[in-house]
Amino acid sequence: MSEGASKKEEKPRKLQVVRGTRDLLPPETALWNRVEQTAHSVFTTYGFGEIRLPIFEQSELFARSIGTETDVVSKEMYSWVEGWEDANFAIFREWSIKRDPESAKVLGLMSPLRASKPREKRDLGSLSQNTTMTLDGVETIARFRYRVELTDVFELQNAGMAYQQQGRAMPQLLLVTVPSTIPDGMESIAAKANVRLEKIHIDDFEPPQLLALRPEATASVCRAYLEHGMQQLPQPVKLYYMGPMFRRERPQKGRYRQFYQIGAEVLGGSDAPAIDAEVVEMVMAFFDKLELQGVQLDINSIGCRECRPKYVDLLRAELLKVKDKLGPDSQRRIETNPLRVLDSKVKEEQPVIEKLPRIADHLCEACAAHYSAVKRQLEMRGVIYRENWRLVRGLDYYMRTTFEITAKGLGSQNAVCGGGRYDGLVELLGGPPTKGIGFAIGEDRLILSLQESGKAPAQQGRDVYIAWMGERAHATAIRAAKDLRKAGFSVELPPLELKFGKALGQADKLGAKYALILGDNEVSEGLWTLKTLADGSQAKLPEPALIEHLRKSKLVSS
Ligand code: HAM
Repeated sequence: MSEGASKKEEKPRKLQVVRGTRDLLPPETALWNRVEQTAHSVFTTYGFGEIRLPIFEQSELFARSIGTETDVVSKEMYSWVEGWEDANFAIFREWSIKRDPESAKVLGLMSPLRASKPREKRDLGSLSQNTTMTLDGVETIARFRYRVELTDVFELQNAGMAYQQQGRAMPQLLLVTVPSTIPDGMESIAAKANVRLEKIHIDDFEPPQLLALRPEATASVCRAYLEHGMQQLPQPVKLYYMGPMFRRERPQKGRYRQFYQIGAEVLGGSDAPAIDAEVVEMVMAFFDKLELQGVQLDINSIGCRECRPKYVDLLRAELLKVKDKLGPDSQRRIETNPLRVLDSKVKEEQPVIEKLPRIADHLCEACAAHYSAVKRQLEMRGVIYRENWRLVRGLDYYMRTTFEITAKGLGSQNAVCGGGRYDGLVELLGGPPTKGIGFAIGEDRLILSLQESGKAPAQQGRDVYIAWMGERAHATAIRAAKDLRKAGFSVELPPLELKFGKALGQADKLGAKYALILGDNEVSEGLWTLKTLADGSQAKLPEPALIEHLRKSKLVSS
Protein backbone atom coordinates (compact mmCIF):
# COMPACT_ATOMS: atom_id res chain seq x y z
CA MET A 1 0.00 0.00 0.00
CA SER A 2 1.32 3.44 -0.89
CA GLU A 3 1.95 5.91 1.87
CA GLY A 4 -0.82 8.14 0.54
CA ALA A 5 -3.40 5.34 0.63
CA SER A 6 -2.58 4.31 4.18
CA LYS A 7 -2.82 7.94 5.31
CA LYS A 8 -6.30 8.20 3.79
CA GLU A 9 -7.58 5.39 5.96
CA GLU A 10 -6.27 6.91 9.14
CA LYS A 11 -9.05 8.81 10.85
CA PRO A 12 -7.80 12.12 12.19
CA ARG A 13 -7.61 12.11 15.95
CA LYS A 14 -10.56 13.85 17.57
CA LEU A 15 -9.41 16.90 19.45
CA GLN A 16 -10.93 17.68 22.77
CA VAL A 17 -10.97 20.54 25.19
CA VAL A 18 -7.97 20.59 27.55
CA ARG A 19 -8.52 19.04 30.99
CA GLY A 20 -9.75 21.62 33.46
CA THR A 21 -11.04 23.99 30.77
CA ARG A 22 -14.55 23.98 29.31
CA ASP A 23 -16.79 25.40 26.65
CA LEU A 24 -19.65 27.50 27.88
CA LEU A 25 -22.66 27.03 25.67
CA PRO A 26 -26.08 28.55 25.23
CA PRO A 27 -28.46 28.64 27.05
CA GLU A 28 -26.01 28.70 30.00
CA THR A 29 -24.16 31.66 28.52
CA ALA A 30 -27.35 33.71 28.86
CA LEU A 31 -27.02 33.25 32.62
CA TRP A 32 -23.35 34.27 32.46
CA ASN A 33 -24.38 37.41 30.64
CA ARG A 34 -27.09 38.17 33.16
CA VAL A 35 -24.63 37.74 36.03
CA GLU A 36 -22.07 39.99 34.35
CA GLN A 37 -24.65 42.63 33.48
CA THR A 38 -25.81 42.62 37.09
CA ALA A 39 -22.21 43.06 38.26
CA HIS A 40 -21.75 46.03 35.91
CA SER A 41 -24.89 47.69 37.19
CA VAL A 42 -24.48 46.97 40.92
CA PHE A 43 -20.79 47.91 41.02
CA THR A 44 -21.48 51.11 39.09
CA THR A 45 -24.00 52.16 41.73
CA TYR A 46 -21.15 51.93 44.27
CA GLY A 47 -18.92 54.16 42.13
CA PHE A 48 -16.63 51.47 40.71
CA GLY A 49 -15.20 51.71 37.19
CA GLU A 50 -14.24 48.75 35.04
CA ILE A 51 -10.59 47.89 34.41
CA ARG A 52 -9.60 45.43 31.67
CA LEU A 53 -6.28 43.77 32.28
CA PRO A 54 -3.97 41.56 30.23
CA ILE A 55 -4.39 37.80 30.58
CA PHE A 56 -0.63 37.34 31.04
CA GLU A 57 1.93 39.30 32.99
CA GLN A 58 5.49 38.95 34.17
CA SER A 59 5.63 35.95 36.43
CA GLU A 60 7.50 37.99 39.00
CA LEU A 61 4.41 40.14 39.60
CA PHE A 62 2.56 37.16 41.03
CA ALA A 63 5.57 35.68 42.78
CA ARG A 64 6.18 38.93 44.63
CA SER A 65 2.58 39.63 45.58
CA ILE A 66 0.89 36.27 46.12
CA GLY A 67 4.10 34.79 47.57
CA THR A 68 6.55 32.24 46.21
CA GLU A 69 5.65 29.66 48.87
CA THR A 70 1.91 29.68 48.17
CA ASP A 71 0.33 26.80 46.24
CA VAL A 72 -0.89 29.23 43.61
CA VAL A 73 2.62 30.40 42.72
CA SER A 74 4.74 27.36 43.55
CA LYS A 75 2.54 24.70 41.97
CA GLU A 76 -0.32 26.09 39.98
CA MET A 77 0.97 28.83 37.74
CA TYR A 78 1.13 28.44 33.97
CA SER A 79 4.40 30.12 33.13
CA TRP A 80 6.82 30.06 30.27
CA VAL A 81 9.99 31.73 29.10
CA GLU A 82 9.54 34.02 26.19
CA GLY A 83 12.34 35.09 23.88
CA TRP A 84 14.89 32.68 25.28
CA GLU A 85 16.03 31.39 21.92
CA ASP A 86 15.96 34.82 20.30
CA ALA A 87 18.06 36.31 23.09
CA ASN A 88 20.60 33.53 22.95
CA PHE A 89 20.73 33.70 19.21
CA ALA A 90 21.34 37.43 19.40
CA ILE A 91 24.17 36.98 21.89
CA PHE A 92 25.70 34.20 19.90
CA ARG A 93 25.50 36.11 16.62
CA GLU A 94 27.04 39.20 18.16
CA TRP A 95 29.83 37.18 19.61
CA SER A 96 30.45 35.51 16.25
CA ILE A 97 30.57 38.86 14.45
CA LYS A 98 33.18 40.05 16.89
CA ARG A 99 35.20 36.92 16.51
CA ASP A 100 34.89 36.19 12.82
CA PRO A 101 32.74 38.34 10.50
CA GLU A 102 32.92 35.63 7.80
CA SER A 103 31.37 32.95 9.99
CA ALA A 104 28.73 35.49 11.04
CA LYS A 105 27.59 35.69 7.43
CA VAL A 106 26.99 31.96 7.47
CA LEU A 107 25.28 32.24 10.81
CA GLY A 108 22.97 34.89 9.49
CA LEU A 109 21.65 32.39 7.00
CA MET A 110 21.14 29.66 9.54
CA SER A 111 17.72 28.97 10.94
CA PRO A 112 17.39 29.95 14.60
CA LEU A 113 19.75 27.98 16.71
CA ARG A 114 18.49 25.53 19.24
CA ALA A 115 19.12 26.51 22.77
CA SER A 116 18.12 24.42 25.74
CA LYS A 117 15.69 26.06 28.14
CA PRO A 118 16.71 26.78 31.71
CA ARG A 119 15.96 23.87 33.96
CA GLU A 120 15.11 25.96 36.95
CA LYS A 121 12.60 28.58 35.98
CA ARG A 122 12.62 30.19 39.38
CA ASP A 123 16.21 31.25 38.80
CA LEU A 124 14.98 33.57 36.13
CA GLY A 125 13.95 36.29 38.55
CA SER A 126 16.98 38.38 37.75
CA LEU A 127 17.07 37.47 34.13
CA SER A 128 16.05 40.85 32.81
CA GLN A 129 19.22 42.47 34.03
CA ASN A 130 21.55 39.62 33.66
CA THR A 131 21.38 37.14 30.85
CA THR A 132 24.31 34.84 30.65
CA MET A 133 25.06 31.73 28.78
CA THR A 134 27.77 29.16 28.63
CA LEU A 135 28.99 27.63 25.44
CA ASP A 136 30.61 24.30 25.04
CA GLY A 137 33.95 25.55 23.86
CA VAL A 138 34.85 27.55 20.79
CA GLU A 139 35.40 24.66 18.42
CA THR A 140 32.06 23.11 19.20
CA ILE A 141 30.36 26.40 18.59
CA ALA A 142 31.85 26.77 15.18
CA ARG A 143 30.21 23.53 14.25
CA PHE A 144 26.94 24.66 15.77
CA ARG A 145 26.89 21.93 18.33
CA TYR A 146 26.76 23.78 21.54
CA ARG A 147 24.86 24.09 24.70
CA VAL A 148 23.32 27.21 26.19
CA GLU A 149 22.46 27.40 29.82
CA LEU A 150 21.25 29.91 32.31
CA THR A 151 23.97 30.39 34.81
CA ASP A 152 24.92 32.51 37.74
CA VAL A 153 27.71 32.30 40.23
CA PHE A 154 26.28 29.28 41.96
CA GLU A 155 25.27 27.56 38.82
CA LEU A 156 28.70 28.05 37.44
CA GLN A 157 30.08 26.37 40.54
CA ASN A 158 27.57 23.56 40.24
CA ALA A 159 28.01 23.30 36.53
CA GLY A 160 31.62 22.30 37.04
CA MET A 161 30.48 19.32 39.06
CA ALA A 162 27.65 18.48 36.70
CA TYR A 163 29.93 18.55 33.69
CA GLN A 164 32.44 16.37 35.49
CA GLN A 165 29.76 13.85 36.42
CA GLN A 166 28.69 13.65 32.81
CA GLY A 167 32.32 13.17 31.82
CA ARG A 168 32.30 16.35 29.75
CA ALA A 169 34.71 19.20 29.71
CA MET A 170 33.71 22.44 31.38
CA PRO A 171 32.58 25.15 28.92
CA GLN A 172 35.43 27.47 28.11
CA LEU A 173 33.57 30.66 27.53
CA LEU A 174 30.85 32.57 29.29
CA LEU A 175 29.15 35.38 27.41
CA VAL A 176 27.49 38.16 29.39
CA THR A 177 25.31 40.78 27.78
CA VAL A 178 26.02 44.41 28.61
CA PRO A 179 24.74 46.64 30.06
CA SER A 180 24.64 44.26 32.94
CA THR A 181 26.82 43.70 35.89
CA ILE A 182 28.78 40.56 36.16
CA PRO A 183 27.75 39.28 39.58
CA ASP A 184 30.26 39.60 42.37
CA GLY A 185 32.54 36.66 42.56
CA MET A 186 31.65 35.43 39.11
CA GLU A 187 34.99 36.51 37.64
CA SER A 188 37.03 34.68 40.22
CA ILE A 189 34.88 31.57 40.11
CA ALA A 190 35.10 31.62 36.34
CA ALA A 191 38.86 31.96 36.51
CA LYS A 192 39.09 29.09 38.97
CA ALA A 193 36.96 26.95 36.68
CA ASN A 194 39.10 27.99 33.75
CA VAL A 195 36.18 29.73 32.07
CA ARG A 196 36.78 32.90 30.10
CA LEU A 197 34.25 35.70 30.61
CA GLU A 198 33.39 37.92 27.69
CA LYS A 199 31.08 40.91 27.63
CA ILE A 200 28.87 41.34 24.61
CA HIS A 201 27.11 44.56 23.77
CA ILE A 202 23.91 44.34 21.73
CA ASP A 203 21.83 47.37 20.77
CA ASP A 204 18.18 47.00 21.76
CA PHE A 205 18.82 43.70 23.43
CA GLU A 206 15.57 42.05 24.46
CA PRO A 207 16.29 39.79 27.39
CA PRO A 208 14.08 36.73 27.79
CA GLN A 209 11.11 37.15 30.08
CA LEU A 210 9.39 34.73 32.38
CA LEU A 211 5.67 35.24 31.79
CA ALA A 212 2.62 33.67 33.39
CA LEU A 213 -1.10 33.36 32.75
CA ARG A 214 -2.71 35.34 35.55
CA PRO A 215 -3.86 33.16 38.45
CA GLU A 216 -5.78 36.14 39.89
CA ALA A 217 -6.08 39.86 39.20
CA THR A 218 -5.39 41.78 42.41
CA ALA A 219 -1.67 41.95 41.64
CA SER A 220 -2.39 43.20 38.12
CA VAL A 221 -4.75 45.90 39.40
CA CYS A 222 -2.02 47.11 41.77
CA ARG A 223 0.53 47.09 38.96
CA ALA A 224 -1.84 49.07 36.74
CA TYR A 225 -2.59 51.52 39.57
CA LEU A 226 1.11 52.29 39.79
CA GLU A 227 1.86 52.15 36.09
CA HIS A 228 -0.84 54.69 35.26
CA GLY A 229 -0.08 57.00 38.17
CA MET A 230 -3.54 56.48 39.64
CA GLN A 231 -2.22 57.85 42.95
CA GLN A 232 -2.79 61.25 41.34
CA LEU A 233 -6.53 60.61 41.00
CA PRO A 234 -8.98 61.35 43.81
CA GLN A 235 -8.51 58.53 46.34
CA PRO A 236 -9.57 55.85 46.84
CA VAL A 237 -9.64 54.48 43.31
CA LYS A 238 -12.41 51.89 42.93
CA LEU A 239 -12.01 49.36 40.15
CA TYR A 240 -13.71 46.14 39.13
CA TYR A 241 -12.85 43.46 36.59
CA MET A 242 -14.10 40.21 35.18
CA GLY A 243 -12.45 37.52 33.11
CA PRO A 244 -10.62 34.21 33.04
CA MET A 245 -7.91 33.22 35.52
CA PHE A 246 -5.65 30.17 35.33
CA ARG A 247 -4.45 27.76 37.99
CA ARG A 248 -3.15 24.25 37.45
CA GLU A 249 -5.34 22.69 40.12
CA ARG A 250 -6.81 19.20 40.20
CA PRO A 251 -10.10 19.66 38.35
CA GLN A 252 -13.37 18.74 40.04
CA LYS A 253 -16.85 20.18 40.37
CA GLY A 254 -16.43 23.92 40.90
CA ARG A 255 -12.68 23.78 40.36
CA TYR A 256 -11.20 24.38 36.94
CA ARG A 257 -7.86 25.26 35.43
CA GLN A 258 -9.41 28.10 33.50
CA PHE A 259 -12.04 29.72 35.67
CA TYR A 260 -13.67 33.12 35.75
CA GLN A 261 -13.61 35.76 38.40
CA ILE A 262 -15.55 38.94 38.95
CA GLY A 263 -13.59 41.09 41.35
CA ALA A 264 -13.27 44.59 42.75
CA GLU A 265 -10.48 46.51 44.45
CA VAL A 266 -10.35 49.77 46.39
CA LEU A 267 -6.90 51.34 46.32
CA GLY A 268 -5.45 54.35 48.07
CA GLY A 269 -6.96 56.73 50.57
CA SER A 270 -7.58 55.57 54.09
CA ASP A 271 -8.07 52.18 55.68
CA ALA A 272 -11.30 53.31 57.33
CA PRO A 273 -13.34 50.28 58.45
CA ALA A 274 -16.28 51.75 56.54
CA ILE A 275 -14.41 50.91 53.33
CA ASP A 276 -14.06 47.26 54.32
CA ALA A 277 -17.73 47.15 55.23
CA GLU A 278 -18.89 48.86 52.07
CA VAL A 279 -16.92 46.43 49.89
CA VAL A 280 -18.56 43.50 51.68
CA GLU A 281 -21.96 45.19 51.48
CA MET A 282 -21.50 45.54 47.73
CA VAL A 283 -20.84 41.82 47.16
CA MET A 284 -23.81 40.94 49.32
CA ALA A 285 -26.02 43.38 47.38
CA PHE A 286 -24.85 41.75 44.16
CA PHE A 287 -25.64 38.25 45.43
CA ASP A 288 -28.96 39.51 46.72
CA LYS A 289 -29.89 40.92 43.34
CA LEU A 290 -29.08 37.56 41.74
CA GLU A 291 -31.14 35.80 44.43
CA LEU A 292 -28.21 33.54 45.26
CA GLN A 293 -29.33 30.98 47.84
CA GLY A 294 -27.73 29.93 51.12
CA VAL A 295 -25.27 32.84 51.26
CA GLN A 296 -23.00 32.70 54.31
CA LEU A 297 -20.44 35.40 55.02
CA ASP A 298 -17.45 34.55 57.22
CA ILE A 299 -15.10 37.26 58.42
CA ASN A 300 -11.87 37.38 60.35
CA SER A 301 -8.92 39.65 61.05
CA ILE A 302 -5.47 38.19 60.52
CA GLY A 303 -3.62 41.10 62.07
CA CYS A 304 -0.76 43.13 60.67
CA ARG A 305 3.01 43.00 60.28
CA GLU A 306 3.29 43.82 63.99
CA CYS A 307 1.00 41.29 65.61
CA ARG A 308 0.70 38.44 63.13
CA PRO A 309 4.33 37.19 63.30
CA LYS A 310 4.04 36.99 67.08
CA TYR A 311 0.81 35.00 66.78
CA VAL A 312 2.35 32.75 64.12
CA ASP A 313 5.28 32.00 66.45
CA LEU A 314 2.88 31.16 69.25
CA LEU A 315 0.79 29.00 66.94
CA ARG A 316 3.87 27.16 65.71
CA ALA A 317 5.00 26.48 69.26
CA GLU A 318 1.55 25.14 70.17
CA LEU A 319 1.39 23.05 67.00
CA LEU A 320 4.76 21.50 67.75
CA LYS A 321 3.36 20.28 71.07
CA VAL A 322 0.57 18.38 69.28
CA LYS A 323 2.54 17.46 66.17
CA ASP A 324 1.94 13.70 66.40
CA LYS A 325 -1.80 14.23 66.41
CA LEU A 326 -1.59 15.91 63.01
CA GLY A 327 -1.46 14.42 59.53
CA PRO A 328 1.57 14.78 57.22
CA ASP A 329 0.25 17.89 55.42
CA SER A 330 -0.36 19.80 58.62
CA GLN A 331 2.95 18.59 60.05
CA ARG A 332 4.74 20.04 57.06
CA ARG A 333 2.83 23.30 57.37
CA ILE A 334 3.99 23.80 60.96
CA GLU A 335 7.28 24.87 59.42
CA THR A 336 6.20 26.37 56.08
CA ASN A 337 2.98 28.19 57.01
CA PRO A 338 1.36 27.33 60.36
CA LEU A 339 -1.70 29.51 59.62
CA ARG A 340 -2.67 27.11 56.86
CA VAL A 341 -3.08 24.33 59.44
CA LEU A 342 -6.21 26.19 60.56
CA ASP A 343 -7.61 25.58 57.09
CA SER A 344 -7.34 21.80 57.46
CA LYS A 345 -10.47 19.76 56.73
CA VAL A 346 -8.95 16.49 58.08
CA LYS A 347 -11.54 15.10 60.51
CA GLU A 348 -9.12 13.75 63.11
CA GLU A 349 -7.34 17.11 63.36
CA GLN A 350 -10.44 19.12 64.18
CA PRO A 351 -10.48 18.62 67.99
CA VAL A 352 -6.77 19.54 68.10
CA ILE A 353 -7.26 22.67 66.01
CA GLU A 354 -10.22 23.83 68.11
CA LYS A 355 -7.91 24.12 71.14
CA LEU A 356 -5.25 26.22 69.39
CA PRO A 357 -4.76 29.88 70.29
CA ARG A 358 -7.00 32.24 68.32
CA ILE A 359 -5.69 35.27 66.51
CA ALA A 360 -8.53 37.51 67.73
CA ASP A 361 -7.00 37.23 71.22
CA HIS A 362 -3.58 38.24 69.95
CA LEU A 363 -4.28 41.23 67.71
CA CYS A 364 -2.42 44.43 68.48
CA GLU A 365 -4.51 47.32 69.77
CA ALA A 366 -4.85 49.00 66.37
CA CYS A 367 -5.88 45.78 64.61
CA ALA A 368 -8.36 44.87 67.34
CA ALA A 369 -9.94 48.33 67.12
CA HIS A 370 -10.09 48.11 63.33
CA TYR A 371 -11.72 44.69 63.49
CA SER A 372 -14.42 45.76 65.95
CA ALA A 373 -15.12 48.85 63.87
CA VAL A 374 -15.51 46.71 60.73
CA LYS A 375 -18.02 44.51 62.56
CA ARG A 376 -19.93 47.55 63.78
CA GLN A 377 -19.97 48.99 60.27
CA LEU A 378 -21.32 45.72 58.87
CA GLU A 379 -24.09 45.76 61.46
CA MET A 380 -24.97 49.36 60.55
CA ARG A 381 -25.42 48.16 56.98
CA GLY A 382 -27.53 45.18 57.95
CA VAL A 383 -24.92 42.72 56.67
CA ILE A 384 -25.17 39.40 58.51
CA TYR A 385 -21.79 37.80 59.16
CA ARG A 386 -20.25 34.98 61.13
CA GLU A 387 -16.86 35.35 62.77
CA ASN A 388 -14.55 32.54 61.76
CA TRP A 389 -11.20 32.63 63.50
CA ARG A 390 -9.97 29.82 61.25
CA LEU A 391 -10.43 31.83 58.09
CA VAL A 392 -6.93 32.32 56.72
CA ARG A 393 -6.51 32.99 53.05
CA GLY A 394 -4.22 31.13 50.66
CA LEU A 395 -2.44 34.22 49.33
CA ASP A 396 0.32 36.03 51.22
CA TYR A 397 -0.68 39.64 50.70
CA TYR A 398 -3.53 39.86 53.19
CA MET A 399 -3.57 41.72 56.49
CA ARG A 400 -6.38 42.60 58.92
CA THR A 401 -9.84 42.02 57.39
CA THR A 402 -10.34 38.78 55.49
CA PHE A 403 -13.64 37.30 54.36
CA GLU A 404 -15.11 34.44 52.43
CA ILE A 405 -18.64 33.78 51.20
CA THR A 406 -20.12 30.36 50.61
CA ALA A 407 -23.35 29.47 48.83
CA LYS A 408 -25.71 26.56 48.39
CA GLY A 409 -25.27 23.58 46.11
CA LEU A 410 -21.51 23.65 45.64
CA GLY A 411 -20.24 20.62 47.53
CA SER A 412 -16.70 20.81 48.86
CA GLN A 413 -15.69 23.77 46.66
CA ASN A 414 -18.27 26.05 48.19
CA ALA A 415 -16.37 29.35 48.49
CA VAL A 416 -18.00 31.59 45.97
CA CYS A 417 -16.08 34.71 46.97
CA GLY A 418 -12.88 35.50 48.83
CA GLY A 419 -11.27 38.77 49.72
CA GLY A 420 -9.59 40.97 52.22
CA ARG A 421 -7.38 43.91 53.00
CA TYR A 422 -3.87 44.10 51.55
CA ASP A 423 -2.26 47.36 52.70
CA GLY A 424 1.40 47.14 51.73
CA LEU A 425 0.97 45.24 48.47
CA VAL A 426 1.45 48.28 46.25
CA GLU A 427 4.59 49.08 48.25
CA LEU A 428 5.84 45.55 47.65
CA LEU A 429 5.49 46.23 43.94
CA GLY A 430 7.67 49.32 44.20
CA GLY A 431 5.02 51.95 44.92
CA PRO A 432 4.34 54.27 47.85
CA PRO A 433 2.54 52.98 50.98
CA THR A 434 -1.03 52.43 49.78
CA LYS A 435 -4.11 50.94 51.40
CA GLY A 436 -6.01 48.27 49.54
CA ILE A 437 -8.97 45.96 49.93
CA GLY A 438 -10.99 43.85 47.53
CA PHE A 439 -12.56 40.55 46.67
CA ALA A 440 -12.99 38.11 43.82
CA ILE A 441 -16.07 36.05 43.10
CA GLY A 442 -15.66 32.66 41.43
CA GLU A 443 -18.11 33.15 38.58
CA ASP A 444 -18.21 29.45 37.64
CA ARG A 445 -19.27 28.58 41.17
CA LEU A 446 -21.75 31.42 41.32
CA ILE A 447 -23.37 30.13 38.13
CA LEU A 448 -23.36 26.54 39.45
CA SER A 449 -25.11 27.61 42.61
CA LEU A 450 -27.70 29.64 40.68
CA GLN A 451 -28.36 26.67 38.42
CA GLU A 452 -28.70 24.28 41.35
CA SER A 453 -31.36 26.49 42.86
CA GLY A 454 -33.28 26.75 39.60
CA LYS A 455 -32.28 30.28 38.69
CA ALA A 456 -31.02 29.34 35.25
CA PRO A 457 -32.90 30.77 32.30
CA ALA A 458 -34.67 28.28 30.07
CA GLN A 459 -33.55 27.63 26.51
CA GLN A 460 -33.65 30.93 24.73
CA GLY A 461 -36.60 30.78 22.31
CA ARG A 462 -37.37 33.06 19.36
CA ASP A 463 -40.08 35.65 19.28
CA VAL A 464 -40.95 35.04 15.66
CA TYR A 465 -40.29 32.27 13.18
CA ILE A 466 -40.93 33.31 9.61
CA ALA A 467 -42.36 30.50 7.51
CA TRP A 468 -42.17 31.53 3.88
CA MET A 469 -42.88 29.83 0.57
CA GLY A 470 -42.19 31.18 -2.90
CA GLU A 471 -39.70 33.69 -4.33
CA ARG A 472 -41.84 36.76 -3.70
CA ALA A 473 -42.58 35.69 -0.17
CA HIS A 474 -38.84 35.17 0.40
CA ALA A 475 -38.12 38.79 -0.48
CA THR A 476 -40.92 39.95 1.83
CA ALA A 477 -39.70 37.61 4.58
CA ILE A 478 -36.19 39.07 4.40
CA ARG A 479 -37.59 42.58 4.73
CA ALA A 480 -39.90 41.57 7.58
CA ALA A 481 -37.05 39.86 9.46
CA LYS A 482 -34.91 42.95 9.17
CA ASP A 483 -37.67 45.25 10.43
CA LEU A 484 -38.61 42.94 13.31
CA ARG A 485 -34.99 42.58 14.41
CA LYS A 486 -34.55 46.33 14.24
CA ALA A 487 -37.54 46.62 16.56
CA GLY A 488 -35.77 44.27 19.00
CA PHE A 489 -37.53 40.96 18.34
CA SER A 490 -35.54 37.78 17.93
CA VAL A 491 -36.33 36.27 14.58
CA GLU A 492 -35.55 32.98 12.87
CA LEU A 493 -35.61 33.16 9.11
CA PRO A 494 -35.02 29.78 7.45
CA PRO A 495 -32.48 30.14 4.63
CA LEU A 496 -34.23 27.59 2.38
CA GLU A 497 -37.86 27.20 1.47
CA LEU A 498 -39.71 24.71 3.67
CA LYS A 499 -43.21 23.33 3.39
CA PHE A 500 -45.39 25.17 5.93
CA GLY A 501 -45.93 21.99 7.98
CA LYS A 502 -42.21 21.38 8.34
CA ALA A 503 -41.52 25.05 9.03
CA LEU A 504 -44.08 25.15 11.84
CA GLY A 505 -42.57 22.00 13.32
CA GLN A 506 -39.18 23.70 13.40
CA ALA A 507 -40.69 26.82 14.91
CA ASP A 508 -42.07 24.66 17.70
CA LYS A 509 -38.71 22.96 18.31
CA LEU A 510 -36.98 26.33 18.55
CA GLY A 511 -39.51 27.46 21.13
CA ALA A 512 -40.78 30.32 18.96
CA LYS A 513 -43.74 32.27 20.30
CA TYR A 514 -45.15 33.23 16.93
CA ALA A 515 -44.95 32.02 13.37
CA LEU A 516 -45.32 34.61 10.69
CA ILE A 517 -46.72 32.82 7.66
CA LEU A 518 -45.85 34.34 4.31
CA GLY A 519 -47.08 32.66 1.14
CA ASP A 520 -48.11 34.05 -2.23
CA ASN A 521 -51.62 34.87 -0.94
CA GLU A 522 -50.36 36.85 2.03
CA VAL A 523 -47.95 38.82 -0.12
CA SER A 524 -50.49 39.71 -2.79
CA GLU A 525 -53.25 40.53 -0.29
CA GLY A 526 -50.86 42.52 1.92
CA LEU A 527 -52.34 40.72 4.92
CA TRP A 528 -49.90 38.59 6.89
CA THR A 529 -50.83 35.57 8.99
CA LEU A 530 -49.48 35.53 12.52
CA LYS A 531 -49.91 32.27 14.37
CA THR A 532 -49.56 32.10 18.16
CA LEU A 533 -47.84 28.76 18.65
CA ALA A 534 -48.94 28.16 22.24
CA ASP A 535 -52.66 28.00 21.39
CA GLY A 536 -52.67 27.73 17.60
CA SER A 537 -54.76 30.91 17.19
CA GLN A 538 -54.20 32.97 14.06
CA ALA A 539 -54.62 36.62 13.20
CA LYS A 540 -54.47 38.39 9.84
CA LEU A 541 -52.59 41.65 10.02
CA PRO A 542 -51.54 44.30 7.53
CA GLU A 543 -47.77 44.77 7.47
CA PRO A 544 -47.70 48.14 9.29
CA ALA A 545 -49.75 46.73 12.20
CA LEU A 546 -47.52 43.71 12.82
CA ILE A 547 -44.81 45.28 14.95
CA GLU A 548 -47.30 47.17 17.09
CA HIS A 549 -49.33 43.98 17.59
CA LEU A 550 -46.22 42.03 18.65
CA ARG A 551 -45.08 44.78 20.94
CA LYS A 552 -48.39 44.77 22.75
CA SER A 553 -48.64 41.01 23.02
CA LYS A 554 -45.02 40.71 24.14
CA LEU A 555 -45.75 43.12 26.94
CA VAL A 556 -48.82 41.16 27.90
CA SER A 557 -47.07 37.77 27.86
CA SER A 558 -43.95 38.87 29.76
P1 HAM B 1 -9.09 33.41 45.83
O1 HAM B 1 -9.71 33.01 47.13
O2 HAM B 1 -7.88 32.71 45.42
O3 HAM B 1 -8.83 34.97 45.94
O4 HAM B 1 -10.17 33.27 44.69
C1 HAM B 1 -11.43 33.90 44.79
C2 HAM B 1 -12.52 32.97 44.31
O5 HAM B 1 -12.22 32.49 43.00
C3 HAM B 1 -12.68 31.71 45.14
O6 HAM B 1 -13.47 31.94 46.29
C4 HAM B 1 -13.38 30.79 44.16
O7 HAM B 1 -14.76 31.07 44.14
C5 HAM B 1 -12.78 31.20 42.84
N1 HAM B 1 -11.74 30.23 42.42
C6 HAM B 1 -10.46 30.17 42.81
N2 HAM B 1 -9.82 29.14 42.21
C7 HAM B 1 -10.73 28.54 41.42
C8 HAM B 1 -10.71 27.41 40.53
N3 HAM B 1 -9.59 26.71 40.32
N4 HAM B 1 -11.85 27.08 39.89
C9 HAM B 1 -12.99 27.79 40.08
N5 HAM B 1 -13.07 28.86 40.89
C10 HAM B 1 -11.97 29.23 41.56
C11 HAM B 1 -8.31 35.72 44.95
O8 HAM B 1 -8.14 35.34 43.82
C12 HAM B 1 -8.01 37.14 45.36
N6 HAM B 1 -7.39 37.86 44.23
C13 HAM B 1 -9.27 37.84 45.84
C14 HAM B 1 -9.05 39.24 46.26
C15 HAM B 1 -9.25 40.35 45.54
N7 HAM B 1 -8.55 39.62 47.43
C16 HAM B 1 -8.44 40.93 47.45
N8 HAM B 1 -8.86 41.38 46.30
